[in-house]
Amino acid sequence: PAPGWATEADVVVVGSGVAGLTVALRCAAAGARVTVVTKARLDDGSTRWAQGGIAAALGEGDTPGQHLDDTLVAGAGLCDEQAVRALVTEGPDAVRRLIATGARFDADDATGEILLTREGGHHRRRIAHAGGDATGAEISRALVEAVRAAGIDTVENALVLDLLKDGTGRTAGVTLHVMGEGQRDGVGAVLADAVVLATGGMGQIFSATTNPAVSTGDGVALALRAGAEVSDLEFVQFHPTVLWLGPDAEGQQPLVSEAVRGEGAHLVDADGVRFMRGQHELAELAPRDIVAKGIMRRMQERGAEHMYLDARHFGARMWERRFPTILAACRAHGIDPVTEPIPVAPAAHYASGGVRTDLRGRTTVPGLYACGEVACTGVHGANRLASNSLLEGLVFAERIAEDITEDLAPGAAGSSVAARPSGPSDPGVPGLPAAPGGAPLLASEARYEIQHIMTHGAGVLRSAESLARAADRLERVQDDAAAQLRRDGKTAEPGVETWEATNLHLVARVLVAAALRREETRGCHWREDRPERDDPAWRRHLLVTLRPDGA
Ligand code: SIN
Repeated sequence: PAPGWATEADVVVVGSGVAGLTVALRCAAAGARVTVVTKARLDDGSTRWAQGGIAAALGEGDTPGQHLDDTLVAGAGLCDEQAVRALVTEGPDAVRRLIATGARFDADDATGEILLTREGGHHRRRIAHAGGDATGAEISRALVEAVRAAGIDTVENALVLDLLKDGTGRTAGVTLHVMGEGQRDGVGAVLADAVVLATGGMGQIFSATTNPAVSTGDGVALALRAGAEVSDLEFVQFHPTVLWLGPDAEGQQPLVSEAVRGEGAHLVDADGVRFMRGQHELAELAPRDIVAKGIMRRMQERGAEHMYLDARHFGARMWERRFPTILAACRAHGIDPVTEPIPVAPAAHYASGGVRTDLRGRTTVPGLYACGEVACTGVHGANRLASNSLLEGLVFAERIAEDITEDLAPGAAGSSVAARPSGPSDPGVPGLPAAPGGAPLLASEARYEIQHIMTHGAGVLRSAESLARAADRLERVQDDAAAQLRRDGKTAEPGVETWEATNLHLVARVLVAAALRREETRGCHWREDRPERDDPAWRRHLLVTLRPDGA
């Protein structure tokens, strides 16, 4: 059955963070007709929440080679060196183009030089920032303004459902569920020869995360249903210092940027002992996985629910000038970092894996691209280096735009009218592709059960036992949700919440299967039952594709 409405473009970009909007701007500048679709408002994704900044070898004495070395070390043997080389060599100019697009970074008043800070795993000051600790918000502001000024077609409140393919299996557009956007409302389609997934991450598969509510793995789920290859999903990065708001805190939690440690804050236990000293030459500024593990270990030793970040020595002026966002978030929760240490604990932060792409952002499905957190370009390996994500979004967005605008014959859009959804159709809902493998949509309440299962079974600490239990419970979520609906005399209505729960479920299942399979500890995948890195057996990637029956 046909979707209720359809529009055409040369390129449809799904998502509106740094990656999506950069692709859109570059494609539009090259003359392509672009439509950007995004699940909430244009500035509602993860980019807006990025604090620390964007890493690039911009400082005196720094070089792309040194940035490459730090990235490879953090990636724990699984980075694609060619992809990292592209990132670090093209990064500085990509940042300069972002500045030319309108983003204003913090600079020295006298010289105009961009100010650079340090974060975990970086041996140099190479993190550019804006508004002190509001870098993502500034980048988002500049890009949204530029997209509006360029008159690019945008559809907000549009949850992407599935990929459309033509008879040859090539990408032909996407189906969407749109809420309250006038003529393009309800289930519809954007027909386009190129689809760029820039949907961001999946932090919402865990109970506590730094990610906003929209980060539900929609792009990875779509790609899986479309038959694209997904890789490295087991490498979920837990940010070491997230404001601890109690054992039952759920949803998006306030981040306390690594830049706070970069400027000299100390991690301490309840007795004031700096426990990261002696664990790594960089102490608090070791790569993120090492700091997260150091905190978790100390929490276990002490039977504590959190550790502390002590930056009282910054003083009020520095806090206000350099970290206004974090200061306000802490004070809103009754903690004053000027006079007391901040309670912190690790929480889910970043998906290092995602939809597998080549160096031009192409996935294994012709015409389908991915960039930003949804993608696995190979630059992060087993553990992303701090502040490389905004940079990856920029650099690979530009590469994708180049690839698309080279290949695309302008005006050829919508030629593949015999488009069909890549998922099997749900006969009950005209135009709406069904859940993976034809399984019914999950009730929105299943989201909480999935988050609980993932936090306890596949969180910062994992073992074969915890993962097997999680896999088993995830298999039962579908049946439990259906039974609950039957008891309540309800059905799971197609809508944003049921689609999100369905996507979270699919992504969680694949992540747990990969984490169970990788029988070693590497980067941010920490198996308590396999505490060593095992290069001979596991210096390789786990690639996943979904069979048509959803298995
Ligand atoms: C932070 O500011 O600590 C986050 C930076 C990042 O995740 O890259």
